[in-house]
Amino acid sequence: MRPKKNILITGGAGFIGSHVVRLFVNTYPEYHVFNLDSLTYAGNLENLKDIENKSNYSFLKADITDESLINSLFKTHQFEAVIHLAAESHVDRSITDPLAFVKTNVIGTMNLLNAFKNTWKDNYKNKLFYHISTDEVYGSLGDTGLFTETTSYDPNSPYSASKASSDHFVRAYGETYGIPYVISNCSNNYGPNQFPEKLIPLFINNIINKKSLPVYGDGNYTRDWLYVIDHAIAIDSVFHKGVLGETYNIGGFNEWKNIDLVTLLCDQMDVALDREKGTSKKLITYVKDRPGHDLRYAIDASKIKNELGWEPSVTFEQGLKKTISWYLNNTDWLQNVTSGVYQSYYENQYD
Ligand code: NAD
Ligand code: DAU
Repeated sequence: MRPKKNILITGGAGFIGSHVVRLFVNTYPEYHVFNLDSLTYAGNLENLKDIENKSNYSFLKADITDESLINSLFKTHQFEAVIHLAAESHVDRSITDPLAFVKTNVIGTMNLLNAFKNTWKDNYKNKLFYHISTDEVYGSLGDTGLFTETTSYDPNSPYSASKASSDHFVRAYGETYGIPYVISNCSNNYGPNQFPEKLIPLFINNIINKKSLPVYGDGNYTRDWLYVIDHAIAIDSVFHKGVLGETYNIGGFNEWKNIDLVTLLCDQMDVALDREKGTSKKLITYVKDRPGHDLRYAIDASKIKNELGWEPSVTFEQGLKKTISWYLNNTDWLQNVTSGVYQSYYENQYD
């Protein structure tokens, strides 16, 4: 029998990574999925309880900034494909501690690229290095226009600068050393298991606890939102059907001004919690703006739609309802991740 194909997924204990790991483990028994994660504050193995005992799944606790450990894991397991999601991912934290983002997002990505290159340089056939990136590398749009795959990079936050840098290194390793790669740049994800530092889960948690909802600036900033399971399905499509050396933009065709999104969330939460209509909206508080706050992100996802046949499967209203219901049914998960150091993060960020 042919041995299973070994696939390395980094950051698989995080929000998006856990959905990607689950999808690959359940869909492809012919792959052995290695989930490599250092379990930072954002990594949580509770996210993968339902698949942790599957025979085609293994967890490796490792830090991608640890060059010798990464090299030795590649030597032992001979990963034929890498789906690289591990990253510091929160813009506000990148403003407070930019160097942490350079270490993980840039140096960590370099370590993976070098280990991949050294393992396969004599035989890149059927190998793949897939980098999961963000639409934030393109910078900010005005009131009109969309990011396409040829939009120039123009990152504004330390987070997006670090992701832009790692994208450039992936592309440079393709050009210089011939490594087979694909990159996808996705818009804002939401859904189950997202750490409550990001807008939607933070506000759900605050509404549950009747705490204020801190809207940055005037609330007129715009994002394109995609349900996380639709992103995982898009990643599956790019992994299996994407053309080597290409970039794919992934988005929800779903732009919302923050204040409109928050209003919809408040209304849905009132219904879900059986509170009088208008209760949650009273918690909205306008607070000091995020420095360098990008005005608008909007993705043209027609390339992945036309070339790979992917498009979102749920509407925003449906996805938001599913998300709210997941958080209300998983209050233990929410309590576990918001105890301890979360409290001091919250005080530093908002008080
Ligand atoms: P997340 O913060 O929820 O998870 C990141 C995971 O990476 C965690 O499990 C963490 O433990 C792990 N990790 C962090 N540093 C590590 C290190 N040094 N070594 C090993 N593991 C480490 O992030 P997410 O929101 O799931 O994002 C995943 C990826 O997708 C990131 O690369 C991010 O840039 C990208 N992305 C995210 C979004 C979004 O809306 N969340 C949108 C587009 C792209
Ligand atoms: O666009 C993709 C990116 O989306 C990903 O690459 C990032 O990893 C992910 O964190 C996300 O970045 P954003 O900065 O857009 O997401 P965040 O949830 O932090 O903020 C969404 C919007 O809401 C943004 O305009 C800032 C605003 N906001 C956020 C928080 C946390 C608030 O008004 N108040 C808040 O408390």
